[in-house]
Amino acid sequence: MNSALAEISEDHYSSLHQLNTVPKQKVLSVSHLRKSYNAHQTVLHDISFDLHRGEMVGVIGRSGAGKSTLLHVLNGTHSATSGEINSFPEVGTPRDVSRLKGRALNQWRSECGMIFQDFCLVPRLDVLTNVLLGRLSQTSTLKSLFKVFTDEDRARAIALLEWLNMLPHALQRAETLSGGQMQRVAICRALIQNPSILLADEPVASLDPKNTQRIMGVLREVSEQGISVMVNLHSVELVKEYCTRVIGVSQGRIVFDDHPSRLTQDVLQILYGDEISQLH
Ligand SMILES: Nc1ncnc2c1ncn2[C@@H]1O[C@H](COP(=O)(O)OP(=O)(O)OP(=O)(O)O)[C@@H](O)[C@H]1O
Ligand SMILES: [Mg+2]
Repeated sequence: MNSALAEISEDHYSSLHQLNTVPKQKVLSVSHLRKSYNAHQTVLHDISFDLHRGEMVGVIGRSGAGKSTLLHVLNGTHSATSGEINSFPEVGTPRDVSRLKGRALNQWRSECGMIFQDFCLVPRLDVLTNVLLGRLSQTSTLKSLFKVFTDEDRARAIALLEWLNMLPHALQRAETLSGGQMQRVAICRALIQNPSILLADEPVASLDPKNTQRIMGVLREVSEQGISVMVNLHSVELVKEYCTRVIGVSQGRIVFDDHPSRLTQDVLQILYGDEISQLH
């Protein structure tokens, strides 16, 4: 077990062995979720699914199908138009998180961490500070204004950076990193919040094959520690190699939700139509 993640998660998550022997534990239940950005276009229609602890779910579909919108609505960066997103925390009572505001919304965003497609790092700040910024939602306003972090926060940030082989770059400005390095920093920043769910929007879109395998391996390891991972991908090959489940989205609806081994040519035809020949 990775020590950095183990340190973060030991209070919250049991071992992988236990994961395989206990029944699936529901962490999120999405029901009849709908999202419209304007009156003329509904982007997500009647989306319903449950997410379980430690799953690694690949979300696939054509460009414009609604994959990014789905992750943004789950994490609360975009509001849902209707429907429910019920969270089942390990401690505390289940609650609908689809209409949170203010502090409650920030708290939810730290429970449901997100890695954005363009990393969203602060270019002029160093790597270590960028990771620590992930703690801001759990820090008082005054402390966050002056970027005051505890020794515990720093130790955790360093452990995460070490795990992802980024410690030698801890004091380097984020803007000078390579794409693969930025992605690893973004993962550290999301994990420092101790999320129970990690959402990743095309985390390997701009990476070379070596970094792609590395990042996908990291996400798999994260899921094996008991964090539920949902990852938007354009590669069916990667979904088959790394994911335990795949959700196929077409025109804002879920048209497939099953194990990746059941992704047949017929299903891919429904999902990608004419673009099927461009798949890899
Ligand atoms: N902020 C927005 N305002 C208006 N429409 C939007 C907004 N964001 C996305 N859309 C529209 O919602 C639809 C779904 O977009 P989304 O980005 O979720 O697709 P996607 O499946 O992630 O596509 P891609 O694979 O290209 O990233 C598209 O028609 C898009 O134009
Ligand atoms: Mg997208």
